[in-house]
Amino acid sequence: MRRELQPSDIKLKWGCKSVGEREEPNFVIEPLGAKHDRAVFSCGNDELDSYLHKQAAQDLKKRAAVPFVITPDRKTIAGFYTLSQYAADLGEVPMEVAKRLPKYPTVSATLLGRLAVSTEFRGRGLGERLLMDALRRSLESSKQVASEGVVVDAKDASAEEFYKKYGFIELPRVARRLFLAMGTVEALFGERQRDRLCDAAGYAGGTTGGDSCGARS
Ligand SMILES: CC(C)(COP(=O)(O)OP(=O)(O)OC[C@H]1O[C@@H](n2cnc3c(N)ncnc32)[C@H](O)[C@@H]1OP(=O)(O)O)[C@@H](O)C(=O)NCCC(=O)NCCS
Repeated sequence: MRRELQPSDIKLKWGCKSVGEREEPNFVIEPLGAKHDRAVFSCGNDELDSYLHKQAAQDLKKRAAVPFVITPDRKTIAGFYTLSQYAADLGEVPMEVAKRLPKYPTVSATLLGRLAVSTEFRGRGLGERLLMDALRRSLESSKQVASEGVVVDAKDASAEEFYKKYGFIELPRVARRLFLAMGTVEALFGERQRDRLCDAAGYAGGTTGGDSCGARS
């Protein structure tokens, strides 16, 4: 059986330092707002594009999901993700994870519903940065509203590979539904990495504001 990926196995390439080194513009991750240009976003996946164009603002308004965007200029959307609450059956969770959880019939989790980077901005570490931001926010909010892990629905095999790189494991019952235990997320942000990420992303413990990921030395 494949060994569960440990937090120490996960090598993060992103960081504000590397953005600065490459002299790219400062990117900010912030909640979706009216100032963001949703209409021109294109990641090559019609469903994700259409979601951002037509549904994301509604989901925000109706509190169905909170969309966050990464932007170089507070207008252009280079990428986005959404977070909401999720309740999984205990039986949906792999045995090795379930045995560490309390034996309630459902498992409270955070759903990373969608994550996409515009084709124009691919391969520059923004997908990783969005994922780390989503995990960080999930961890922070789990201290207020319990959540035992982060669930994602990968759109295709390639997306599945992307998430597995960061330690997500398959949930047995639903194809391409993946899970990362909150304990693993916490360990991922532990010690050295926590300091680096907090410093780099400008986190001050808040979970709703815009977080500057600009170039810093
Ligand atoms: C998947 C996606 C978010 C990656 O965004 P990106 O900004 O190009 O990714 P990054 O530059 O941050 O790459 C981070 C790491 O993931 C790897 N990676 C990127 N896309 C990958 C993919 N589709 N499959 C496997 N690995 C991938 C990169 O090689 C990099 O690894 P490295 O550090 O070892 O080189 C982007 O390709 C995308 O939006 N795809 C379409 C929508 C989608 O599939 N969303 C996810 C599921 S809903």
